Amino acid sequence: MTQTIAVSSQKGGVAKTTTCLSLGASLSEMGHFVLLVDLDPQAHLTLSIGLTPKELRRTVGDVLLGNNSLLSVSRESSVQGLDIVPANQRLVILEKVLQGRPDFQFQLKNGLQSLGDDFYDFILIDCPPSLGALTLNALTAANLLIIPVQCEYFAAHTLLNYRKLVEYMRKKTNPRLKYRVLVTMYDRRNKICQVTLEQMQRGLNRVLFETIIEVDTKLRESPTLGQPITLYAPTTRGAEQYRALAKELLNNGQ
Ligand SMILES: Nc1ncnc2c1ncn2[C@@H]1O[C@H](COP(=O)(O)OP(=O)(O)OP(=O)(O)O)[C@@H](O)[C@H]1O
Ligand SMILES: [Mg+2]
Repeated sequence: MTQTIAVSSQKGGVAKTTTCLSLGASLSEMGHFVLLVDLDPQAHLTLSIGLTPKELRRTVGDVLLGNNSLLSVSRESSVQGLDIVPANQRLVILEKVLQGRPDFQFQLKNGLQSLGDDFYDFILIDCPPSLGALTLNALTAANLLIIPVQCEYFAAHTLLNYRKLVEYMRKKTNPRLKYRVLVTMYDRRNKICQVTLEQMQRGLNRVLFETIIEVDTKLRESPTLGQPITLYAPTTRGAEQYRALAKELLNNGQ
């Protein structure tokens, strides 16, 4: 059965896109079939895989409006087993159109359901850093939400807000939604990072992934070549840590 995962946080720049791409590439490297869905008008995931958003004629927006099937919009990437439904900036306007429609939160879920239950092993949805119609679609379609957080002073506040959002989504559109928290860009030499991590390990318990993604400049470089870290720098710490995350997800995903 397909596992559908939304990677979301209202906070910008916490490695949502990096996590989608690197986790997706790690899972496909292990032989799983993975679909990446770019739900962010910034289209960073689309760019990271080497596509040019403004040249695209069909995007995830066409699926959300019900104009195209998901399969007709998806394309294979240069990574074996890794497909993508791309995005571009038109999603900004589309989000406003979508909001006015009844049951707008279910559009992505409907699109994904048309694929059937075993076409992909994993679907990873990259959300924008906001809580509009696009993110609500992702949280309605997903069975698991991964919330990336940096170990900083605001982490607890961000997580509290997201916990409330999960409760809301469970009541309104998606009773099966579970969530897990992933520490990203961890700097082991930084005291605040160490203290915040210890607090999260105590307070979040099993919700927190054991795998921690540390700062690695190779992760910052890889999108410029349109390659995931598993291809760009396969032996670096960043690649190994995202592989460990994939293994942890496979062993005890939820
Ligand atoms: N572990 C890491 N080590 C170093 N740099 C990283 C790491 N993870 C992500 N980055 C870099 O940090 C920046 C933000 O990451 P990313 O774009 O994945 O965040 P995001 O949450 O998707 O941002 P946005 O909210 O704008 O969508 C990027 O330049 C990315 O390359
Ligand atoms: Mg992003």
